Amino acid sequence: MNIKPCVVGLGYVGLPVLLNLSKKFKTCGFDINKQRIINLKKKIDKTKEFNKSDLKKLDSTILTFKSHDLKKFNFYIICVPTPINIKKKPDLSPLILACKIIGKVLKKNDVVVFESTVYPGTTQDICTPLIEKFSGLSYEKNEFFICYSPERVNPGDKQHTINKINKIIAIPKNKKKKEIIKVYKNLCKNLIVSENIAETETSKVIENIQRDINIALMNEIYIFCDKLKLNFNNVLKLASTKWNFVKYNPGLVGGHCLPVDPYYFSHIAEKNKIQTRVTLAGRSINEYMRKFLIKKIKKKLKENMIEYKKDKIIFAGLTYKKNVSDMRNSQSFKIFNYFKKINSNIFGLDPYLERNLNNKIINLKDHKKINEAKSIILFVNHQKLDEFFKKSKARNKIINILN
Ligand SMILES: NC(=O)c1ccc[n+]([C@@H]2O[C@H](COP(=O)([O-])OP(=O)(O)OC[C@H]3O[C@@H](n4cnc5c(N)ncnc54)[C@H](O)[C@@H]3O)[C@@H](O)[C@H]2O)c1
Repeated sequence: MNIKPCVVGLGYVGLPVLLNLSKKFKTCGFDINKQRIINLKKKIDKTKEFNKSDLKKLDSTILTFKSHDLKKFNFYIICVPTPINIKKKPDLSPLILACKIIGKVLKKNDVVVFESTVYPGTTQDICTPLIEKFSGLSYEKNEFFICYSPERVNPGDKQHTINKINKIIAIPKNKKKKEIIKVYKNLCKNLIVSENIAETETSKVIENIQRDINIALMNEIYIFCDKLKLNFNNVLKLASTKWNFVKYNPGLVGGHCLPVDPYYFSHIAEKNKIQTRVTLAGRSINEYMRKFLIKKIKKKLKENMIEYKKDKIIFAGLTYKKNVSDMRNSQSFKIFNYFKKINSNIFGLDPYLERNLNNKIINLKDHKKINEAKSIILFVNHQKLDEFFKKSKARNKIINILN
C-alpha cells in the first residue's frame, strides 16, 4: 500500500499530527473551517503553537476545506473536537459529520484512525456503522480498517511534544497492522500497541479524570487552608516530604479536556446502569473555584484599599493555562467578565489574546493603562507576562491570586 495520510480537523491535535506525518508522506490536511485553511496556507496558526517556519514544512501538503479532495488519500486520521452540550452530555456532532465525510470518500482497503477523545464504545458502536452506511463497505468483511489512537498533545508544552512521548494505538487484528504501525511510529517516541479499541478509549478518558480529581482535592485543601488562615504552600511542602505523597497544585481548570472528559465517562457509565460516585466529584469543586476566587479577589482588593466597583484594575493571564492561546472553558476569563460587567475600568491583559472586546483587552505595549492601574490581578503567569513584569515597575501592584 502506498500510504497517503489525510488528517481531518487541524486544531491543537490535528496540526502537529499533520506536521509530523508530512516529513515522511505526501499528506493532506482537511478542516471544515475555511478560514483555518486560508490561514494555514498563509502560514498563520491562530492557536500560536507553530510559527511561520514550522508551517513551511506544509509546503507540499494539500490543505483543503473541500471534502472531494480527500478521495486521493487512503489513511484518514480524525482529530475533530468532542465537546459537551449545555446539558453536559457528549456532543458527537463534529465526529458524526467527520464519519459521514470520510464514509463518502472511503475506498476498499482504506484505513481510518480516530484520535478524538471519546467515551468507550464510540468508535465501534457509533463511528464504524456510520462509515459503513456512507461508504457502502463492510467492516466485518475487512473492506476497510478502523483504529483508535488517543492523543496526548499538551499545548504550550515544548517538553512533551508529540515526537518525544509514548503514544497508544489500538489496532484490532487485521492484515494492515504492520503498515499502520509503520505510519504511527513516525508520530511518537515509543508506540504502544493494543488490540482493544474500547480499552484504549477508556484509558484516555481516565487519564484526564484522574488529573481533574487530583487538582480538585488540592483546590479543596487550598480553600480549607484559606479559611483557617494556614499557609497552603507550607502545608504542601511538608506533606511532600513523604515518599508516596503525590504533589498537585490547586488552580482553575479549563480547556477542552479536563472539564469535558469526566462527563463522557459518566455518560456511558450511566447508560450501563453504573452509578459513578467519584468521577464527577472533581468537577463541582473545580467549578466552585471560580466563585471562591471572586470572593478572594474582592477581599484582597479591599485589604489594599482598592474599590473593585470603580478603580482601574487589570486582570492578567486570561487563557486557560500557561503559554497557550486556548480560551476554551477559561475560568480566569469568566472571572474577568464578571468584574468587567460591574466596572468599566476593568481591563484584560494577555499576550496570547487579540485586542478586542471594545478595547477591553490591552496588550503589553499599553504602558499608560498598565501604569495607571491600581492593581493587577494575575491568573496565568505566561512566560511573556513574567518577563514583562520582571522589568516593569507595575510588578509591585500584582496580586497573584492563586498564591
Ligand atoms: N487540545 C488538547 O490539548 C487535546 C489533548 C488531547 C486530546 N484532545 C482531543 O482531541 C480532539 C481534538 O481537539 P483539539 O483541541 O484539536 O480541537 P480544536 O477545536 O483545536 O480543533 C478541531 C478542528 O477540527 C475542525 N473540525 C470540526 N469538525 C470537523 C469536521 N467534521 N471535519 C473536519 N474538521 C472539523 C475544527 O474546525 C477545528 O479546526 C478532541 O477530541 C479533544 O478532546 C485534545
